[in-house]
Amino acid sequence: MLTLILAVDQNGGLGYRNRLPWRIPAEMDHFRKTTYGHTLIMGRKTFEGIGKPLPGRTAIVLTKDPSLSYPFESVKTETGMSALFQAAKESEREFFVAGGKSVYEAAYPYADRILLSVIDAQYTVDAFFRMNLTEDFDILEIRRMDGFSVYDYRRRCSA
Ligand SMILES: NC(=O)c1ccc[n+]([C@@H]2O[C@H](COP(=O)([O-])OP(=O)(O)OC[C@H]3O[C@@H](n4cnc5c(N)ncnc54)[C@H](OP(=O)(O)O)[C@@H]3O)[C@@H](O)[C@H]2O)c1
Repeated sequence: MLTLILAVDQNGGLGYRNRLPWRIPAEMDHFRKTTYGHTLIMGRKTFEGIGKPLPGRTAIVLTKDPSLSYPFESVKTETGMSALFQAAKESEREFFVAGGKSVYEAAYPYADRILLSVIDAQYTVDAFFRMNLTEDFDILEIRRMDGFSVYDYRRRCSA
């Protein structure tokens, strides 16, 4: 199963200068609790923005550079993006795509689930996620949190 997990501001803003434009502890806690014990898939820029492995999670970092590797046991690199998304989709385990912009866009056609945090505020941003989710997904649940809402989208089954 392939799940995109992301947060956007009121304008669909995702990031600014390769960082999250906000610091919202409750949203970070939601991300940590949801992904703990799972494998994260992320682009090389997002991983290098974080700068280190996230505790309790393994990471697959996408890069076009086959010689790139990181000195962390829990972090692997991968160049075959589509094959990775397809394998994750076919797995019984849930894999989480954790950004950034280019990787969310590439993973979107494979996503079974999208966990979207919509933050109540607007920020200065230079990266957006503006997919029309209701074309392909149904909302299973909306959870109201402190300063943001979490929308749990599931891909609509085609008849
Ligand atoms: N709001 C959120 O929830 C959230 C979450 C995560 C990130 N973000 C934001 O997203 C922004 C970064 O997004 P981004 O698009 O610039 O960078 P990114 O998606 O994190 O990483 C891009 C890199 O991924 C690799 N890549 C991309 N396509 C590939 C392919 N087809 N095959 C193999 N590797 C591929 C390339 O690495 P190489 O250059 O090494 O080849 C590329 O430079 C930042 O502002 C960050 O803060 C927001």
